[in-house]
Amino acid sequence: MTSVIVQAAAALRNAKCAVAVTGAGISAESGIPTFRGEGGIWEKYSPDEFASIAAYLRDPNKVWQFWRELAGLVKGCRPNAGHVALADLERMGVLRGVITQNVDNLHQAAGSTRVIEYHGNARRLVCLGCHKRKNIDTNNMGDRAPRCPICADLMKPDVVMFGEDIPRHAMFEAHALAEKCDVMIVVGTSAQVYPAAELPFIAKSNGAFIIESNTERTEFSEVVTDAYLEGPAGETLPQLLRALAQR
Ligand code: OAD
Repeated sequence: MTSVIVQAAAALRNAKCAVAVTGAGISAESGIPTFRGEGGIWEKYSPDEFASIAAYLRDPNKVWQFWRELAGLVKGCRPNAGHVALADLERMGVLRGVITQNVDNLHQAAGSTRVIEYHGNARRLVCLGCHKRKNIDTNNMGDRAPRCPICADLMKPDVVMFGEDIPRHAMFEAHALAEKCDVMIVVGTSAQVYPAAELPFIAKSNGAFIIESNTERTEFSEVVTDAYLEGPAGETLPQLLRALAQR
């Protein structure tokens, strides 16, 4: 066991309020590609064209095809050992919650109960007119952007597209936890998208110990990270749990 894992486990052992912030990297080992980097989703689809609210309003049927493809990709995926380790940490009373930028529902599938969906959830639709939400039937998504069963207005995936605000309740809860926590575990995020990327900086400025799990160093690694766990989260997070169990 490396000394950095032992150091991270010691911080967690003494934590009164630990929280995790996760990004696409934690789901990579479940078979869902990340957004940036080689083979990333944004290499194939430009976010301006397929992930902005302006694009959706301009041509909803075209953008719907992208979300349909993404939903198809996520559908057969299962949580991996990284998701399970965070769910275990919550069950053990160590972790207060997971703030995730992911829209794939895999933390919930792994058993995490307090999941703050910072960028929404691609399993739901929301109506742009009456704001009604409903679950997507992934077996029957259709070729055209869906219409609301109540008011017939256009519906969209209940995710934060570029040009949209973070849902207020998620923003409030996430920022309150970031201010309050004494340990933050930052997993599989490139530190490029704000305001999510602010969270580790907020935690650090309030004195939190920052554990980062990533396969590559990020802007966090240089500036706020106290314990950098290099490697796939599906390996490093279970190692962290094992270290926590050893006294
Ligand atoms: P990115 O694709 O930007 O970054 C993924 C990060 O995961 C990178 O830092 C990788 O090095 C790391 N990584 C890859 N595999 C890993 C593994 N097995 N274990 C640990 N780390 C690994 O994804 P996000 O940071 O989540 O927003 O992107 C943030 C937001 O940008 C997304 O929520 C999405 C996107 O545009 C919206 O769509 C609004």
